[in-house]
Amino acid sequence: MLTSKQLRQKYLEFFKSKGHAIIPSASLIPENDPTTLFTSAGMQPMIPFLLGESHPAGKRIADSQKCFRTQDIEAVGDNRHTIFFEMLGNWSLGDYFKKEQIDWMFEFLIKEIGLDPNKLFITCFRGDAEINIPRDEEAAKLWQDKFTSIGIEAKIVDNAEEKGLQDGKIFYYDATKNWWSRAGIPEKMPIGEPGGPDSEMFWDFGSALGLHEKSLWKDQPCHVNCDCGRFMEIGNNVFMQYIRTAEGFEELKQKNIDFGGGLERIMAALNNNSDMFAIDLFTKVKNKLEELTNKKYNESEKITYAFRVILDHLRAATFLIADGAIPSNKDQGYFTRRIIRRSVRFARDLGINNNFCSEISKLYIEEYQEAYPDLIKKKDYILRELQTEEEKFRKTLEDGLKEFEKLLKGFQIAQEKTGQKITEISGKQAFKLYDTYGFPLEMTEELAKENNLIIDKKGFAEAFAKHQELSRVGAEQKFKGGLADDSEQSTKYHTATHLLLAALRHVLGADIVQKGSNITAERLRFDFNWPEKLTTEQIKAVEDLVNQKIAEKIPVTMMEMPKTEAKDIVTVRSFDLEKYGEMVKVYKISDPLAGSEQVFSAEFCGGPHVENTGVLGHFKIIKEEASSAGVRRIKAILE
Ligand code: SER
Repeated sequence: MLTSKQLRQKYLEFFKSKGHAIIPSASLIPENDPTTLFTSAGMQPMIPFLLGESHPAGKRIADSQKCFRTQDIEAVGDNRHTIFFEMLGNWSLGDYFKKEQIDWMFEFLIKEIGLDPNKLFITCFRGDAEINIPRDEEAAKLWQDKFTSIGIEAKIVDNAEEKGLQDGKIFYYDATKNWWSRAGIPEKMPIGEPGGPDSEMFWDFGSALGLHEKSLWKDQPCHVNCDCGRFMEIGNNVFMQYIRTAEGFEELKQKNIDFGGGLERIMAALNNNSDMFAIDLFTKVKNKLEELTNKKYNESEKITYAFRVILDHLRAATFLIADGAIPSNKDQGYFTRRIIRRSVRFARDLGINNNFCSEISKLYIEEYQEAYPDLIKKKDYILRELQTEEEKFRKTLEDGLKEFEKLLKGFQIAQEKTGQKITEISGKQAFKLYDTYGFPLEMTEELAKENNLIIDKKGFAEAFAKHQELSRVGAEQKFKGGLADDSEQSTKYHTATHLLLAALRHVLGADIVQKGSNITAERLRFDFNWPEKLTTEQIKAVEDLVNQKIAEKIPVTMMEMPKTEAKDIVTVRSFDLEKYGEMVKVYKISDPLAGSEQVFSAEFCGGPHVENTGVLGHFKIIKEEASSAGVRRIKAILE
């Protein structure tokens, strides 16, 4: 029996043997992509290359990508949802297409890892006359030939939604099931978005669940996409060959393959156990939880649920913190906070009354450190963040829960008095739990639901806004008395960041790209690709060049232009063009009379910027350090 570690390795080695370059997983926090908070699919970091930009590693790429899906938080607790998962991926960037992909996938699943072909089912795109994209008979036939080659008759059938399995092996479905783009179905895709028909592979847990192969479920005919739990998708081959245009769809310049398969799901298929939490990646932590709680994972439905929440959430939190999403009240950090606090709450239900998060995280770091070496490098940092967050929350958790009980009691008394049932927790009450006791709104909502109550979310939002207004007034008062106002200073840092990137490219070479940027009113922070510590001379050269450009009092100008035109103007290579519309803004820092070859900086950017570099003051680098492997981080101030 393969372990998850071996499965991951086998997959990568298999695709390596087919000429693929193996690349490391990208961060869970997308670089330079403000359209999304997290990397939620393996293809997300590949978008520019699917659109035609050339990938430095070539046309055949494979990886195992960390993914995080916020929309699944509420679904965790059943046998197959996890918010964090690893997606095994392989890509053809205008190289091989359907035939090779289906050949290799079949070879990998059946011959390499030994899945039973009798339990494997396939879906293909039915076609859609409205968008003029035909039924994918080619893919269906290719799969059929594969099954035939090992003596399995694979019937291709349609309309399984109404008619059920019909002894079929390969099924046609519409675009809601067999079309992939980041935006979903074709109608939802914005102009410029790539997508295409796909072909999914499903595992049949029928016999493992004690079901007859053709049994009915939920009073409806069971079919592979009916979501009753009998079938589970284990991978998706996307034939990414179209791009959305104003008129409809056009073929992309290149035909791509985008394959993504859940490592944990393939493991569950190998186990032939539909409980994904039964795979080896969770074993050690599960044992630890059993030890800490003196309860068995399978003891009762409620206990299994709580175990799964903790198993999933603390693994996700470990990876999120490693990628820089430390617990906070906003952006990515809010999710880290929410899942840690949710874990602590469920742990309390299981009787864990002492800090335990970092102990669990330690086990996950051990489990994953070979595949994700970053974890070991950041171990202390991860454990510290978890410990701090748990301590902070535990301090108020008991009081908060008491407050909640008090609320329920109050409702009961009022109900008895008036005879009227109270069904809603007011926004103010929910805000108090949030503000005073650190309960994320979603946690209060969950507690409410367990007690058949709902929350006045609008009221919560109002209470929240009022609170923010008050803190803003407080902050404004603090700035009174000559201090520069917040936004003006940030704007200066924003322009200084453009100067810094341009200077780095002059000093270190034109390959330097931005890997991350964060600006406050006090400083700028900038991450870029560079393998080693900068020398004192390099730091000085960068500082001097930025200060020289400040002294030259260069105008900063903004131009809006079509993307295609802008591409030739920018000095900074940009991987994230797809996130912009047809018209883009380019901020240029250059002498207006200078020729194009003398432009110091020209970047795609939403702004805002100062009008002239002369207002920036003196630029100083106060720190230069490693941010992650191959990425350096500079902190700098304007004096
Ligand atoms: N993009 C597809 C998915 O996320 C396959 O990689 O399912």
